[in-house]
Amino acid sequence: MYYTIRWDETAVSMLDQRMLPVQEVYRHYTNYHDVADAIRSMVVRGAPAIGIAAAMGIALAAIKSKINNINDFKSEMLQVCQIFASTRPTAVNLFWAINRMRNIIEKSEDIDACKNDLVHEAQKIHQEDIEINKKIGEFGQKYIGDGFTVMTYCNAGALATGGYGTALGVIRSAVEHGKKIKVYSCETRPYLQGARITAWELFKDNIDTTLICDNMAGHFMKKSEIQCVIVGADRIAANGDTANKIGTYTMSILAKAHGIPFYVAAPISTLDPDTPDGNSIIIEERNIDEIAYIQGVQIAPEGIFIKNPAFDVTPAANITAIITEKGVIENPAVTGIGPLVNG
Ligand code: MRU
Repeated sequence: MYYTIRWDETAVSMLDQRMLPVQEVYRHYTNYHDVADAIRSMVVRGAPAIGIAAAMGIALAAIKSKINNINDFKSEMLQVCQIFASTRPTAVNLFWAINRMRNIIEKSEDIDACKNDLVHEAQKIHQEDIEINKKIGEFGQKYIGDGFTVMTYCNAGALATGGYGTALGVIRSAVEHGKKIKVYSCETRPYLQGARITAWELFKDNIDTTLICDNMAGHFMKKSEIQCVIVGADRIAANGDTANKIGTYTMSILAKAHGIPFYVAAPISTLDPDTPDGNSIIIEERNIDEIAYIQGVQIAPEGIFIKNPAFDVTPAANITAIITEKGVIENPAVTGIGPLVNG
């Protein structure tokens, strides 16, 4: 059985998602700089998974530190937190996980105790995430009827999380409840998370999956082949606007135009009450070679002007419900995320 990420006592191990679906290669990092690079270069990706990777990277930096003065140790660790915070800007789970680690560092008075606590916290963040996804799955499966065909976008699966997945967790839970469902996975240009990762995960689980190009989504919706769309999220603003993989916004408009429910599945750690709305979310711009090349093959003229925003924002008005481990917000355009973050 594959795993996304694992704490290995003196190393952080992860499946290199850049190699999927052709090769299943695991990387073993013994240096926190390499863990930060793994986040930047998409060895590991997906909002909850990069939070877990950062937490484990900070724990790794702590146990490898040779500093024996508590104040120097704390300032070194806070710098390490900064390095992880600069890896990717959009997914709030990254900053949420780093904050949990930072709180431990700031309160600590003893180096060895702090090292133990950081290792423990990173493992806890990982373990909790799997349990959270199971709860999201349980809440979410109620929205998936027997016989549904569900469309998903990007990868919000086991490989984007500690395990099981958010959007794919809902699909997995529906299948575990005995529902006979089909999945349409959009390939998700430019990085092809849908083709390379979602299709790979679902295929391995024997879930009935059909891969389509992104521009086929409207065609299948119009033919009444899709009963709902379910996606993950990188950051959900206070008013319910949701940042997710570039193209999600387009899918939400298509779903709305065809009267198809559009669900977002995400842990509470993806809700960001400090960001008022989608306009305030920082959208990561990635290297243009992700568009100019596919698997090393050049597909655009040399020197052509290219833009590569990695995420877009789906307005709350296009979202039927936000499914979390603490419950579901139906019609987030009416309430925002208030019902869940205010208790
Ligand atoms: O650039 P990526 O692959 O990290 O983007 C991932 C997504 O957009 C996912 O849908 C999102 O992080 C939710 S993962 C549960």
